[in-house]
Amino acid sequence: MLLACVPLSLRTYRNSPMNIELLERSFEQIRPQAIAFSNHFYETLFRHNPGIKPLFANISQQAQGKKLIFSLAAIIENLRSPEVLEPALKSLGARHFEVGTLEEHYPLVGQALFETFAAYLGSDWTPATMDAWQEAYEAIATIMLEGAQNPQAHLEPELTFYDWVDLYGEGSPKVKDAIFSLTNFQYGKTS
Ligand code: HEM
Repeated sequence: MLLACVPLSLRTYRNSPMNIELLERSFEQIRPQAIAFSNHFYETLFRHNPGIKPLFANISQQAQGKKLIFSLAAIIENLRSPEVLEPALKSLGARHFEVGTLEEHYPLVGQALFETFAAYLGSDWTPATMDAWQEAYEAIATIMLEGAQNPQAHLEPELTFYDWVDLYGEGSPKVKDAIFSLTNFQYGKTS
């Protein structure tokens, strides 16, 4: 599975020729169907892995779906700014560790995400697009897991992932507006 490969270090991630254009373009394609996309993702994730559903017991599916799209948008928006993404993802990984997410869960989420992209992009889910997303997901998961290894160093209880991006990311007001218009996500509210 994904994380069984040689783990990417942040340096490798920074230097890797990630196909950012392809990632941005494919994300733009799913943006107009953001809510349906995230519903499909969770349906796929839970159908293949019913055992992980209890992890999500404390959060409504609606809130969780918005968070998925919000976080993907924030990540895509900041791919060109790894110095922004790194602390945000480490803190996100630390938070995931605190709610019981294990390393072995990451490939399951990745698989459901790729299946959902395949369903929504159809013939545009080309081998190159798939490679770009697999590489990006592996880099994201690896950085999150670095945060999970030492959660106290990265956990900022007052700061959510979105706050991190907001504090450090030049593009985040744009992200915030775009996502709000798509999802009516109430910034700072999770349910
Ligand atoms: C690239 C991988 C992932 C991304 C980008 C991501 C993104 C997010 C974001 C942005 C949140 C909201 C955090 C907050 O409110 O502060 C969240 C929450 C959550 N994620 Fe993930 N996630 C990822 C992987 C996973 C995996 C592998 C699992 C485990 C199956 C998981 C389970 C959860 C759960 C259970 C919550 C709710 C936490 C709570 O109760 O507040 N996530 N995720």
